[in-house]
Amino acid sequence: MSPARNVRGVVELPGDKSISHRYAMLAGIAEGHSRLENYSTGADCASTLACMRALGVNWERKDGGVIEVHGKGRVLTAPRGPLECGNSGSTMRMLSGIVAGQKFTSEMVGDESLSRRPMERVIKPLSQMGAKISSREGKPPLRITGGSLKAIDYTMPVASAQVKSCVLLAGLFAEGETQVEEPLRTRDHTEVALRAFGAQVHRKAAGAGNEVRVRGGQRLHGVESRIPGDLSSAAFFLCAAALFPGSQLVIPNLLMNPTRARLLDILMQMGLGISVTKLDEVHGELVGSLQIEGARLKGATLAGGDSAALIDEIPVLAAIAPYTEQGIEVRDARELRVKESDRIAAVAANLRLMGAQVEERDDGLNIPGGQTLHGVEIDSFGDHRIAMAFAVAALRAQGETLIRGSESAAISYPAFFQSLDEVAER
Ligand code: S3P
Repeated sequence: MSPARNVRGVVELPGDKSISHRYAMLAGIAEGHSRLENYSTGADCASTLACMRALGVNWERKDGGVIEVHGKGRVLTAPRGPLECGNSGSTMRMLSGIVAGQKFTSEMVGDESLSRRPMERVIKPLSQMGAKISSREGKPPLRITGGSLKAIDYTMPVASAQVKSCVLLAGLFAEGETQVEEPLRTRDHTEVALRAFGAQVHRKAAGAGNEVRVRGGQRLHGVESRIPGDLSSAAFFLCAAALFPGSQLVIPNLLMNPTRARLLDILMQMGLGISVTKLDEVHGELVGSLQIEGARLKGATLAGGDSAALIDEIPVLAAIAPYTEQGIEVRDARELRVKESDRIAAVAANLRLMGAQVEERDDGLNIPGGQTLHGVEIDSFGDHRIAMAFAVAALRAQGETLIRGSESAAISYPAFFQSLDEVAER
C-alpha cells in the first residue's frame, strides 16, 4: 500500500453486513418469496446463505447483487452435515436462535478464529428456553437440539446485538412472550427487520439500555428490499478522507440507522465536514447520501455507550489516531478482545511496528496525536477490519506498507482495495 496525497471521488458500498445476515435468515423462515437487492458481497453473508440452504431453504443469486429467497416457513429441514459458519460470529450466534426452535439437532462449526470466540453468551439464554446445547467449554462447535421452547425474560450481561438477536429469533419459536433487556443500546436491525417481515416487536427504553419483547408463534412474510450500503465498510473511506484536509468524497445510499451512525457524529466533532444530501427510509432503515470534506482532525475520547456503538469502527479510528492533533483514547471496549482477532492487541502491535507510541490497556488504547508513521510489513491477524484499518493508516505513512493476510478483507468487503485505490490520489 503506497501513501496518497488526497482522497477524492464517489464510493458505492455493498449492502450492510448486519442487515444482509438478518434478511437472509428472516427470508428463509418467512412464507413466500423475498428479493434482496444489494446483498452484502462479503464471505460472512455467503456463510449465512449456505447455512440456510443446508436447512432446506432454496435461494438463487441473480444479476446485479440480487438474491431471491424462497421462504420455507417456520419449519426447516434437518441439515445433513455441520452448518459451516466460517469466520462469521453473526451467523453462528443469530442462527443458533433459529435452529433452537427446530425439532432436530444441528451442529454449528466455524474457522479457527470463530472456534476461539465465546458462545456461552447464547448457550445460556437458549438453554433457559429449553434447547439442549453442547459445546467445547463454551466455544464452537455447538450441537443444538431444539424443539419446544418457552419464553424467557432475559437480562443480557454484555451489550451484544448478536445475543439480543439470537434470543429474539428463538422467541419467535417459543411459547409465550420473550423479553430481552440490554445494558446499553445496541444496533436494532433485528427489531427493524422483524417488523419489515410482518412481525410485531415492542420496545421500551429503560435507562441507558432497552427492553424488547416478541411474541412466539408469529408468521413472517417475504419482502422485496434494497439493502443500504454498509456503514462499517464506509468507515474506512470516511477515515481515509479524514486524513487529508483537501479530501472530497461522495457516498450514496448509505445506511444511517441511528444505532449505527455514531461514527458520523464523532468524525464531525473531530472536524470532518459531513453533509447529508438525501435521506430516505427503506423498510424502517434510514438511508442517506453523504458529502464529505476533509479538514484538520482533532482528537477524541471514546467510552461507555460510545464504545459499544462504535465497536466495529474503533480499529480504523485507532489506526488514524496518530495523525490527529490530540490523539484518541478508547475505554470500555474490552469486547474488542473477543472479535475476529484481539483487536486491541492487533492495533497496538501494528501501530508500534509503524513507529507510533501507543498505550495498550485491558479495555482500550491511548494513542497520542501528532505522530509520524512509516510504512513497514504488518499483519492483518487474519481479521478483515484490521487489514482495512491499516490500509487506511498506510495512506499517510512514509513509504510503502505491506499488509500480510490482506485477503481477509473479503470477509466483509471483497472489492475494498480496488475501491480504495480508485479514490486515493497519489
Ligand atoms: C453485529 C454485532 C456486533 C458487531 C458485529 C455485528 C451484528 O457484535 O461487532 O460485527 O450484526 O449484530 P456483538 O453482538 O458481539 O456486539
